[in-house]
Amino acid sequence: MHILENHSLKNYNTFGIDVKARYFVEIDSVKTLGDVLAVADQYPKIFVLSGGSNMLLTGDLNALVLFINIKGIEIVSQSEEHIRLKIMAGENWHAMVQWTLENNYGGLENMSLIPGNTGTAPIQNIGAYGVELKDRFVQCEAIHVATHEIRSFNKTDCAFGYRDSYFKNQGKGIYIITSVTLQLTKKKHVLNTSYGAIETELKAMKVAQPTIRDVARAVINIRQSKLPDPKVLGNSGSFFKNPVVTKEEFEVFSNSYPEAPFYEISEQSFKIPAGWLIEQCGFKGKRYGDAGVHEKQALVLVNYGNASGAEIMALATRIIKAVATKFGIAITPEVNVIGAL
Ligand code: EPU
Repeated sequence: MHILENHSLKNYNTFGIDVKARYFVEIDSVKTLGDVLAVADQYPKIFVLSGGSNMLLTGDLNALVLFINIKGIEIVSQSEEHIRLKIMAGENWHAMVQWTLENNYGGLENMSLIPGNTGTAPIQNIGAYGVELKDRFVQCEAIHVATHEIRSFNKTDCAFGYRDSYFKNQGKGIYIITSVTLQLTKKKHVLNTSYGAIETELKAMKVAQPTIRDVARAVINIRQSKLPDPKVLGNSGSFFKNPVVTKEEFEVFSNSYPEAPFYEISEQSFKIPAGWLIEQCGFKGKRYGDAGVHEKQALVLVNYGNASGAEIMALATRIIKAVATKFGIAITPEVNVIGAL
């Protein structure tokens, strides 16, 4: 194990925020992870980082940063129609999705081009275009930070919700996910093209009988047209969650704003796109120094170069206040906001 000191994290978080880790170690196997945890009490605290795609770092970390970079994909079992893959935590999500498509395994195509690594996907139950991780999830393995024991979690244990799971709540800081097992189809793929934009894009692509690869292409086209590439413009995808309101709150809202888009989640709850609320407050495309709101998707905050985490957070706070004042609706960050440790 090679522990670096005062290591910049600029290249390890997709926002491109330049904070320093007092100590930093790259973890390339489950064994190394166990070895590092065994000496963790010699350090102020530990902090786990993988793809760095869902966090806003607002200060230096006086901690031992564990950069989870464990690679590998293994076939666990298969039948004629299904395959189960065990994917190690450090596998880049999109590269892994591309690999499944090249092998004609179906089920992840709608979640193409989501930034981040596979091990962090269950934490916030990533999702896009009508499909969430939980829909393909079989189990994950995680190491208990204090005892170093490996435990597996099934779908029920994970308590998945909208951008939410056990690992974001009671399990936070207690476990580090080392692998994720997913079940995909080998034939009779079930396409999910009901999300309006996918159908429109498939038509534009002149595809009448789409394959899983066509759906992935459509998703990639849509995402590239709206969402900034973190390699070009620092960002963390949707900065806020879409607020979920009660039927009563929704009725008040829609009487005033009948033109607003919404999704009915159940008879009693409605989801309102935060991107729409933020755009109505006039923030879309606005820039304050190097912190800004993306010009094509108001839900995405961006770093034009040298914004600090505090500057991005100040913009987020300004947006939260403006949305509360105009609509009486509270929006909350989807990304993990991490203060100085
Ligand atoms: N909208 C606006 N202005 C904007 C952005 C959106 O009016 O600036 C409106 C759109 O016109 C549309 C509605 O809001 O009517 C929804 O927009 P969109 O389809 O772009 O999806 P979203 O709700 O903003 C969610 C996820 C995305 C995911 C897309 C597609 C959350 C927090 N975000 O965004 O996930 O890719 O749906 O499924 O649920 C992410 O989590 O990082 C992420 C990118």
